Amino acid sequence: MNTKLNGRISRRGFLQAGGGLLLTAGLPSSLVRAADLNEYRIVAAPARARLAGPNRPETAVWAYDGTVPGPLVRLRQGEPARLLVENRLDQETTVHWHGIRLPNAMDGVPGLTQPPIKSGESFVYEFTPPDAGTFWYHPHANSLEQLGRGLAGAVIVEEREPVAVDRDLLWLLADWRLKDTGEIAAGFGNRMEAAMSGRVGNTVTLNGQVSETEPVRAGERVRLRLVNGSLARIMALRFEGHSPVVVAIDGQPCDPHELDGSRILLGPAMRIDVVLDMQGEPGRRYDVTDDFYDGLSYRLTQLAYDQQPPLRERPLDASLDLPRNPLPEPDFGTSERHDLTLQGGMMGGGMMAGMGGMTGGGMMQGMTGMGGGPAWAINGMSMTGDGHSGMEPALTFQRGRSVVLILRNQTAWWHPMHLHGHSMRVLSRNGAPVAHRQWQDTVLMAPKDVVEVALVADNPGDWMLHCHVMDHQMTGMMTVLRVA
Ligand code: C2O
Ligand code: CU
Repeated sequence: MNTKLNGRISRRGFLQAGGGLLLTAGLPSSLVRAADLNEYRIVAAPARARLAGPNRPETAVWAYDGTVPGPLVRLRQGEPARLLVENRLDQETTVHWHGIRLPNAMDGVPGLTQPPIKSGESFVYEFTPPDAGTFWYHPHANSLEQLGRGLAGAVIVEEREPVAVDRDLLWLLADWRLKDTGEIAAGFGNRMEAAMSGRVGNTVTLNGQVSETEPVRAGERVRLRLVNGSLARIMALRFEGHSPVVVAIDGQPCDPHELDGSRILLGPAMRIDVVLDMQGEPGRRYDVTDDFYDGLSYRLTQLAYDQQPPLRERPLDASLDLPRNPLPEPDFGTSERHDLTLQGGMMGGGMMAGMGGMTGGGMMQGMTGMGGGPAWAINGMSMTGDGHSGMEPALTFQRGRSVVLILRNQTAWWHPMHLHGHSMRVLSRNGAPVAHRQWQDTVLMAPKDVVEVALVADNPGDWMLHCHVMDHQMTGMMTVLRVA
């Protein structure tokens, strides 16, 4: 169990009784700053966790530093970080720092950007995060099983100036398929599942435990960082009685806005930061539900107000606008346009819908040994597994070029599409302009969606683009984009 994290990150500002906002924590900030927070040593190894609560059996997991989720990695924007990862699993691993725009050699893709970390060995990741925000880390080797057995943690890159909130909370959400005995169900890589929605489980944890309540205080302003660390489960969160304001998506600040349709749609690997003004009544509880799948809605937790009188009468009127990160703006005058078409999956009883004649031998690269061909493809090509050497890029961009990608989902399934090493401005969805043109590194695509994104290909190297439903990635929904 993770006591260090315990649902709360409290070093940020808190409140002074008179209604003013004091942006320091209990310790003088120089003292807090003195600890070298940008250096970590993280050990991946088998462990045990109590996922479903104290009265339920323990689960054998694979964990970073023995906890689920792994330790919170807190870095500072623009300051060098050094993360030593030690592999005490009985198989190879790597760590991918999801969403962080870092040098290619630090990206954690086995074969493509680094040799895998063998059992008993370690690897040092060194990079300077350019962007403040909410990110996460997970393995990029045997990903379906390694993530599915618990290897995941959050990364918070702190803004240079603290943001005016009373508390900064993190909810790392994860989905597990547990048996009654508490063990993780076998069957990773089930081919039927891989060709459909992927391995959706039966137990959702919040910071490593099924949550009954999360304590809050009336009147406080909370920044809540939501991370979906699931293999395949898409979430749509509703906060009963509250109006969350979205302030950042995938780590990148956006125009603060309330929700469309009052649900926070969070695909696997996505992050959304919201600001919540706790306007409920002292002593009351408010449901937080996830109703993404029809007929399968469940209560994720409850916001449980303590009995204390409200911290303040009216919500703070401090700005919700987070400082923007130094992202390069695409130049639409000179941009190249390219299509990336997502194909395959089970539809109307048949496999590989829309994949035409692509199954002929040479196009498949690196089979996973699941039997039968790949289930998915991008532009007629199926790269399977987690990454390996010799992956030929689907597209090559000259460094510094502005690029518009048209992602076309020809399948009957949802796909959170993730690009490594870059952030993408989301321009349009099904022909309609996207309201805030937000930056994202993981774009959730509904069946048949067509989404236009833009980026400046400024980070040299071979970068993965893949679906973050792990079974989909492993069975072919992956490609490589090269910035040369
Ligand atoms: Cu979060 Cu290539 O992955
Ligand atoms: Cu997918």
